[in-house]
Amino acid sequence: MNRREEIIGACRLILGDCLTVMRQLPNVAGVLTDPPYGIDYGGLLKGKGDGKGGSDKNGWKSYGAPEWDKERPDRRTFDEIRKIAPRQIIWGGNYFTDYLPPTMRWLVWDKGQRDFSLADCEFAWVNENRAARIFTYPRARALQDGKVHPTQKPVELMIWCLTFLPEGTVLDPFMGSGTTGVACVKQGRPFIGIEIDPGYFEIACERIRKAYAQPDMFVEAPAEPKQEPLF
Ligand SMILES: C[S@@+](CC[C@H](N)C(=O)[O-])C[C@H]1O[C@@H](n2cnc3c(N)ncnc32)[C@H](O)[C@@H]1O
Repeated sequence: MNRREEIIGACRLILGDCLTVMRQLPNVAGVLTDPPYGIDYGGLLKGKGDGKGGSDKNGWKSYGAPEWDKERPDRRTFDEIRKIAPRQIIWGGNYFTDYLPPTMRWLVWDKGQRDFSLADCEFAWVNENRAARIFTYPRARALQDGKVHPTQKPVELMIWCLTFLPEGTVLDPFMGSGTTGVACVKQGRPFIGIEIDPGYFEIACERIRKAYAQPDMFVEAPAEPKQEPLF
């Protein structure tokens, strides 16, 4: 495939296969990522496994057919993620327990609803022996932020995750619509994102450009230049 690269502010976005690209990247401070879980999300919602998307009995839309979610990335990709940064946060960690070592720290996204047709919460594996933590953020609120990717994470959730990563560049090798990148822009952190799908890559570029164009309350406004009295 044609590899492409876009530099937007402190973000470097790369269109390509993350295993190949990661092998060419320097080390980073942290990985925050959300790989395909291999659960055939589009088929799950449709209930037929035909991957055409649709909606469930509650009218919950699948937002398209994620073909890429039919298979998990293989072990080599996780090995590379674990080599490239001292701290890693991997959403869907419960689907990869055969690739990842046991850990004390799990981050939990509590979606604020119980016994819905989809999961009440999601789990992120973190390579740190510290206490597990929970973030409550209703899925309906996440939808209000605008949904452009079938498995898009809320920006607020990713901002919370960043507080568990050391200072420095954050890498998301499965960038999707660029939510981790948007969170990094809002927190003033350098970001590298990799995405294999050209359509999602364009969406991520657009969202990150917009995040720079619309600074909001999460971004610390630059301090007013201090005027020294002339006399
Ligand atoms: C679960 S989604 C990430 C969604 C993202 N967290 C968001 O909020 O938009 C996983 C993404 O990984 C991408 N992907 C799958 N295999 C890949 C690979 N080998 N290299 C890079 N990206 C890949 C898919 O196209 C998909 O957009």
